[in-house]
Amino acid sequence: MRRVLPIVFILLPLLCFTCSASAETFTCLACHSAMKGKIRTEAGALINVNVDGERYAGSVHGGFDCLTCHKQFSSNPHEPAKAGNIPKNVAAIASKIAHKAKIDPVALAACAECHEDAYKSVQESIHGKNVFDKKQSDGALCTDCHGSPHYITPKNTATSLVNKKNIVKTCGECHENEAIAKKYDFGTHILDRYYESFHGKKYIIGHPNAPTCVNCHNAHDIKKWDDPKSPVAWDNRTQTCGKCHKGATKKFVTAITHKPLGKDDPIPYWFEKALIVLLLSVFAFIFGHVILEAISEIRDKVLKKGKEEHHE
Ligand code: HEC
Ligand code: HEC
Ligand code: HEC
Ligand code: HEC
Ligand code: HEC
Ligand code: HEC
Ligand code: HEC
Repeated sequence: MRRVLPIVFILLPLLCFTCSASAETFTCLACHSAMKGKIRTEAGALINVNVDGERYAGSVHGGFDCLTCHKQFSSNPHEPAKAGNIPKNVAAIASKIAHKAKIDPVALAACAECHEDAYKSVQESIHGKNVFDKKQSDGALCTDCHGSPHYITPKNTATSLVNKKNIVKTCGECHENEAIAKKYDFGTHILDRYYESFHGKKYIIGHPNAPTCVNCHNAHDIKKWDDPKSPVAWDNRTQTCGKCHKGATKKFVTAITHKPLGKDDPIPYWFEKALIVLLLSVFAFIFGHVILEAISEIRDKVLKKGKEEHHE
């Protein structure tokens, strides 16, 4: 008994601190930080039921209780919230992105309550239009670029998916995805082209001023490249490149492209094709050689065996 008491005294204030800080967070986490594993929703998405309380507390939203975003729930867990609890603008967005959310469109729309400008920019971007207007689920919304809403850290921290060191990979999640690239006709070569460029090479070695995707395309209000509002549309390019290359001219800005090599650049195009043919013929030669060798070995063995049998 004497040993147990001090432990209780140490734990009690901790417990009380958690309950007084936020009753809902405590009840939700009581189950969700202990539960492990994934469940499959009716729509077929896999969701992780575990929320790591410590990581959550250290995130930019760690001070909020769960119902700040999960407005459909009430403090009696999983009971639907009172009608009228959801702000109008959040409810309107939620109804338009229901097909994109895995489980709780209201939570995914709730970001708009505090980050209204960011939400507007994204909604009007090529990514947002894909979800809001085209009713697809391929375009990027907040959590596609920022990761789990429970663990977002400031952009200058190493764990942030939009940190300069991680952002190229984050965009690559979709832009290197064969199915998505094919569906929207932008090819999976874009990251390769970037890494091969002057800029990508400087980025890899950690040049602090090397541009990533978002220095040229922006982060939230990304447009199709030939949309006049895009920073990489022809008329805006001298200004965009000019942020780092003082006095960039119309001619200078043609230097960067990640279009696939085509008939516009006949020399590199045919050079690349010739290289592929050369590579394939080398492989064909080696492969043919191995096969012939194998055949002759088998033939030798069979003949030898035949001879031995004959001998007996
Ligand atoms: C008594 C334990 C318990 C508590 C407390 C609890 N949950 Fe859950 N929660 C679960 C279980 C079990 C599941 C998975 C299966 C299911 O949906 O019933 C789940 C699933 C979820 C899901 C996935 C979607 C869904 O509806 O299935 C969300 C979101 C969620 N909980 C949020 C919350 C929030 C927010 C709170 C606090 C208001 C909370 N939970 C409190 C046990 C709990
Ligand atoms: C900043 C807003 C926000 C806060 C705060 C928040 N959530 Fe979530 N949560 C979301 C969003 C957005 C989703 C994904 C919804 C979707 O795609 O359908 C989600 C999904 C979930 C899921 C489903 C599994 C998953 O990861 O997709 C669970 C369980 C969950 N939240 C529990 C909690 C608990 C418990 C808390 C409090 C500790 C909490 N959430 C706080 C926004 C939030
Ligand atoms: C109740 C208000 C509220 C809601 C709802 C909310 N946030 Fe936040 N968010 C904040 C506050 C406050 C900060 C911290 C701002 C700061 O430190 O400058 C923040 C910070 C962020 C940051 C980090 C910015 C940085 O420093 O790099 C991102 C990203 C972010 N929120 C995304 C989201 C997303 C995505 C959602 C919806 C799933 C969401 N937020 C919902 C209030 C909110
Ligand atoms: C296509 C990827 C992408 C999407 C989608 C996206 N973000 Fe961001 N977000 C970024 C990047 C990249 C940055 C960092 C920009 C920078 O370095 O200046 C950022 C920064 C932020 C910041 C910090 C603002 C600042 O300048 O400090 C907030 C808040 C934020 N995003 C919220 C959101 C919300 C809310 C959504 C959904 C409506 C969202 N983001 C969707 C990529 C994205
Ligand atoms: C130095 C500026 C710059 C950087 C860095 C950059 N882009 Fe681009 N991007 C452009 C320009 C200019 C275009 C216009 C089309 C062209 O000439 O390739 C473009 C076009 C695109 C297109 C449309 C291409 C098509 O064929 O339809 C996509 C998608 C794209 N960029 C994604 C990315 C991604 C993802 C990254 C990061 C890996 C990135 N960009 C980095 C300047 C840049
Ligand atoms: C969740 C997947 C996803 C993520 C993450 C994503 N994108 Fe996209 N992106 C798309 C899809 C899908 C389209 C095509 C949408 C359409 O045409 O309806 C697109 C279109 C684009 C376009 C316009 C292409 C054109 O034809 O001109 C650019 C530029 C672009 N994305 C840049 C980025 C950048 C930069 C990032 C990272 C900050 C990023 N994307 C992150 C899915 C994604
Ligand atoms: C965020 C800053 C930034 C932006 C935006 C940017 N660049 Fe660069 N660029 C660099 C850096 C850094 C280098 C490497 C310079 C060095 O090491 O001397 C570089 C190198 C180059 C080079 C190699 C030759 C040289 O002049 O050093 C070319 C060509 C180039 N950039 C073209 C472009 C074009 C075209 C655009 C617009 C589509 C653009 N850049 C946008 C930062 C930028």
